Amino acid sequence: MMRYWLMACGALVLASCEAGQGGGGHEYPEMDSRAFNVFARQCSQCHAPPMPDKHTAAEWPGIIARMQQHRVQRSLPPIDAADMGEIRDYLTRHAKREGNG
Ligand code: HEC
Repeated sequence: MMRYWLMACGALVLASCEAGQGGGGHEYPEMDSRAFNVFARQCSQCHAPPMPDKHTAAEWPGIIARMQQHRVQRSLPPIDAADMGEIRDYLTRHAKREGNG
């Protein structure tokens, strides 16, 4: 199942590169890790998963909470606590440094 997802994600990343979004390739950190897989699975259902350095570690928790609201609005089950922790750790670990915009 994971394998299929990765193929789909590869296609998605290529597609967004070809669309010329933001310049540069989309190379996510830790692409081999379990944390990345959880993040990518949970955060690719409505849009391409964001780059972790798009926001600071202080901003991510609020954004993730907002995404839970979007899930609820679409009658999707919320992300469970274990996955949430993993996603939050992954995003904050690779977040944009504070104070150098
Ligand atoms: C149920 C659908 C859905 C899921 C699942 C989802 N998102 Fe979103 N996301 C949205 C919608 C709708 C918007 C645009 C409105 C907004 O910004 O709240 C958005 C916008 C965003 C933005 C751009 C807004 C900004 O402030 O930069 C980021 C970053 C983001 N999502 C991150 C995530 C992350 C991280 C996850 C996984 C935890 C995730 N999304 C999962 C629906 C979703």
